[in-house]
Amino acid sequence: MKARIAPSILSADFARLGAEVTAVVEAGADLVHFDVMDNHYVPNLTIGPMVCAAIHPLVNVPIDVHLMVKPVDRVVPDFAKAGASIVTFHPEASEHVDRTIDLIHDCGCRVGLAFNPATPLQWLDHVLEKLDLVLIMSVNPGFGGQSFISGALDKLAEARRRIDRANRSIWLEVDGGVKVENIAAIARAGADTFVAGSAIFGSTNYEQTIADMRTELTRALEEADVEAH
Ligand code: DX5
Ligand code: ZN
Repeated sequence: MKARIAPSILSADFARLGAEVTAVVEAGADLVHFDVMDNHYVPNLTIGPMVCAAIHPLVNVPIDVHLMVKPVDRVVPDFAKAGASIVTFHPEASEHVDRTIDLIHDCGCRVGLAFNPATPLQWLDHVLEKLDLVLIMSVNPGFGGQSFISGALDKLAEARRRIDRANRSIWLEVDGGVKVENIAAIARAGADTFVAGSAIFGSTNYEQTIADMRTELTRALEEADVEAH
């Protein structure tokens, strides 16, 4: 399994955002996670397509846009034009989930569906085959620096079972409270893509923190391998 680390720029120093994204990509980020909040779907307000377009020329890894906005569809083409590779949205924020999935694909982006801690995975029953990514929220969306909600581990395991039964490659991403200390347990539950905001941007050495996460991931996957044989 290829594990991907996606630093969330929500915890970056916004006064130096260009330097921050450049630094985190040089430090080994596989994706740049871009949190969009609207003070309506979630109680916070962050950044939009103009900022995405501004950082796009600076990064040579995919920009992973996490839309925490309602309604969703109006802004999808804007983010596609701004250089988003992946656009993930919350089902509660769209009146027509299947239509929003098609819209994101039609705009040339990969599409993800995000699940809040209390959102059931049943939303996947009819759309999993169309998705490129499933995002399990391990905090309630809106803020960086919150603690990992342990119930997300069972949910990840259930999402992993569903994805393994599906007939295509679908990434399983986790978002919220991911740290060097818990990333191994999260990987064992089945995640392959790890968003981390405060754990990376709050550290003094991004490269070391990402390397420490990869060491933990390697250890977790080796242990899983031993258990399987
Ligand atoms: C929360 C955001 C997260 C956030 C994660 O609503 O979606 O991406 O930045 O931050 P940490 O890693 O600090 O929990
Ligand atoms: Zn996010």
